[in-house]
Amino acid sequence: MTAWMTGFAQKAGKAACAVILLILLLAGCGKQFDVGSSERDKAEDEDLIVVGVSQIGSESVWRTANTASIQNVFTRENGYLLIFDNARQKQENQIKAIRNFISQQADYIVFSPIEEDGWDDVLYEAKEAGIPVILMDRMVQTEDESLFTAWIGSDFFQEGVNAGNWLAGYLEEQKRAEEEINIVVLQGTDGGTSTIGRTNGFNDVAARHDNWKILEQTGGDFTTAKAREEMKRLLDTYGDIDVVVSQNDDMTFGVLEELENAGISTGTDGDVIVISFDAVRSALEKVQAGLINVDIECNPEQGPYIEQVIRKLEDGEQAEKYSYVPEQIFTRDNVTQELIDNRSY
Ligand code: AHR
Repeated sequence: MTAWMTGFAQKAGKAACAVILLILLLAGCGKQFDVGSSERDKAEDEDLIVVGVSQIGSESVWRTANTASIQNVFTRENGYLLIFDNARQKQENQIKAIRNFISQQADYIVFSPIEEDGWDDVLYEAKEAGIPVILMDRMVQTEDESLFTAWIGSDFFQEGVNAGNWLAGYLEEQKRAEEEINIVVLQGTDGGTSTIGRTNGFNDVAARHDNWKILEQTGGDFTTAKAREEMKRLLDTYGDIDVVVSQNDDMTFGVLEELENAGISTGTDGDVIVISFDAVRSALEKVQAGLINVDIECNPEQGPYIEQVIRKLEDGEQAEKYSYVPEQIFTRDNVTQELIDNRSY
């Protein structure tokens, strides 16, 4: 062999190795939510309905309950193969997961969009592939409503209004309706439907009360750690806070800790009025103990409602485009021990 031919053979060998490496790497990347072709084949043999679910993450007790609700419904015994992916708070991971569900030819795609913007392209790809998309919990912002088949979730705007109306009634009861009321708001994830709805709903009511002063609305990411940090800063910044509106229970736990550390009492007999959202068991215990004044429920048990939509579509029927899950308002007056004991989350 000439030197030229030996050089050529070496280069070709290296290029082939690089291609093989790339293929192996790509295969590895897909692994986290790949059900594997034999699983997919089995699903077909067993006549299972393949459902790809992209969850936002596990930032809160609520989110864990929401995931459990999905996993309890989409089981093999119920006739499903569930491909579940946790996006760990990243929109790009959700988009990747949805593309993977498309390439695995899922029968349905279910996902909870971390924020409202930026979904059109991937939803269009799902539509092209003929896969119905069901949104759960949060919404997408789109000009083309045909990009999703149904949405199941909470009326977040109404939740915000409920919080505002409760506050108005409580201040009236306390004969403080004319007093100047200083309010701080801890918001959830930026651009997410729950943050937007709760903020707008509460602000709507606040706008009708000239004596309510919203000192600051700040992001707490729906997590205890971030809320702790923000509450500490708010206490250092503002001398007098009458009301804390915390847009989920996990943040409220951080708020309560910080207020307690600062020697400030909360709740029905305390100095600061605390309004929370979600109504998970450990928060309801704090409502019962009088530390949280009111908890506006956000119902995470959406799995059965999503299944109803899929059953309808399987039967060739049209599903409701928007379905709201039932929710309540909890104060010390209606939180019973029985309710707490029976709460599954
Ligand atoms: O979108 C629903 C919200 O997201 C819940 O209130 C919160 O706890 C969760 O993380």
